[in-house]
Amino acid sequence: MQKIERIAQLRDFLRPHRERRLGLVPTMGYLHEGHLSLIRQAAKECEQVVVSVFVNPLQFGPGEDLDRYPRDLERDQKLAGEAGADILFTPGVGEMYPNGAKTTVRITGLTDRLCGASRPGHFDGVATVVSKLFHIVEPDRAYFGQKDAQQVAVIQQMVQDLNFPVEVVSCPTVREADGLAMSSRNVYLSPEERKQAAILYKTLREATREREAGRLCRAAEAVQFIRERLEKAEGLLIDYVEVLSYPELEPLDRLDGDRSIAAVAVRLGSTRLIDNVIWPQEEGTRCTSP
Ligand code: PAJ
Repeated sequence: MQKIERIAQLRDFLRPHRERRLGLVPTMGYLHEGHLSLIRQAAKECEQVVVSVFVNPLQFGPGEDLDRYPRDLERDQKLAGEAGADILFTPGVGEMYPNGAKTTVRITGLTDRLCGASRPGHFDGVATVVSKLFHIVEPDRAYFGQKDAQQVAVIQQMVQDLNFPVEVVSCPTVREADGLAMSSRNVYLSPEERKQAAILYKTLREATREREAGRLCRAAEAVQFIRERLEKAEGLLIDYVEVLSYPELEPLDRLDGDRSIAAVAVRLGSTRLIDNVIWPQEEGTRCTSP
């Protein structure tokens, strides 16, 4: 596997192989099974796979964890190679933003909700760096995790609006044995917090079961169901609990029509955790309550 730091070098490397189907997996590194599942999927579907590792300062707000974001490039290189990556693209901040970031990409509407509301400017940073990576790599397919479902929706919107010739592939969330969604940030959790963190997915699963049994019919009821359970967890602070249409992220009344997302963000100590489940669109009405 090649490790490449310079944009010009990456372009030179890719130029002779343009007829090959090229997959891109953008990451901020400190790779775990979630990232690796994306790389494996890309390697299955593409003849050449670029994995980018870049901790993008533009998507971190003041007071967020940019400075302490975990990094281990050597390990990333080994893991990415084993998962099927051909090139690890590891640009420095000066390479990606030599003039700062005077041009940015902003997607309106979708980015006002959920994490966009709690982290102003975050998705501008994500959209800007991903559009730069799309221009640099020119992939046929780009792989993203459903764990960051709003990010997938934002990127899909951007690709459509700006006519990027790339197919966005959304991959399922990879979880620890107790259901906690894998995240580079899980290393911040103390052993006690780590135990508590399982409540997120446990609650989302309970809500899913209730909905499937026809006992949760309205978005507001589902939000209340999830909130009540999370509020009981000690040391856990709720940032948001929302049930919206997906991928539009519009407010919803009933849950037996459109595809929807139940999304949560909480703080456990100094760590912010997010998770979500997507509830499929349903044909007809199965709700037993009014
Ligand atoms: P990062 O958090 O490193 O995640 C890189 C990719 O891995 C994202 O598409 C994310 O959704 C996916 N991912 C993370 N945890 C996952 C899990 N448990 N299961 C499945 N997929 C998972 O997301 C970013 O970086 C950045 O915002 C980026 C897109 C690279 C732009 O800077």
